[in-house]
Amino acid sequence: MRIFKCKNYAEVSAKAASIIAAQMITKPNAVLGLATGSTPVGAYKILIEKCNNGEIDFSEITTVNLDEYCGLTPDNDQSYRYFMNTNLFDHVNVRKECTFVPDGLAEDAEAESAAYDARIVALGGIDLQLLGIGGNGHIGFNEPAAAFDMATHTVELKESTRQANARFFNSIDEVPTHAITMGMRSIMQAKKVLLVANGSKKAEIVEKALYGPVTPEVPASILQLHPDLTVVYTENDD
Ligand code: GLP
Repeated sequence: MRIFKCKNYAEVSAKAASIIAAQMITKPNAVLGLATGSTPVGAYKILIEKCNNGEIDFSEITTVNLDEYCGLTPDNDQSYRYFMNTNLFDHVNVRKECTFVPDGLAEDAEAESAAYDARIVALGGIDLQLLGIGGNGHIGFNEPAAAFDMATHTVELKESTRQANARFFNSIDEVPTHAITMGMRSIMQAKKVLLVANGSKKAEIVEKALYGPVTPEVPASILQLHPDLTVVYTENDD
């Protein structure tokens, strides 16, 4: 485990962006596992700048996202597809058809989940998986549970997660109750994992995840078992 404790969010973003950029430069056709949430936004902005000034190139990159809310159309401004388009994909030279986000509208969610995992295998697995962390230790939308869920699956969101994410919606009632998330297998089989976290609110859960017992009650704790984990975080709120 490599840990970069940064002095602020700007440093987290710069460090995360340079790790992702390094992956893209060393493997121009890399498969990047991407994340939503507010934490990666700063890194995405820097990647856009790097792409626009020719330092990095998305033309051969494939992306697979961690998760999507159930029931939101891709053009809904709260959907994770919309988030990825507006925060990254629309501003770089990625081929949109090579960007994958789980389909939260799939009629057959089980078939969609199985197809998502099969796609990741067919792509040769994920080279670098970027992860944020929820206040309860979730990664993607793998919520605390009695057992680690290995495959992509539909999950009922915890009330605390809906409350935390309500800040992006007009009201809590609009926050979906379910999501489809990549499971632990694809995350743990990624060749490299990059976990980012920002601010005092995440300090305690980051500590628990990295140094506490490995338990499905703290889903991110499974990352202690990953052979190539980099953590970039700050406990400061500026
Ligand atoms: C959501 C996402 C997670 C993300 C988490 C933390 O719940 N599903 O993938 O890590 O939010 O978000 P933030 O970075 O805004 O704290």
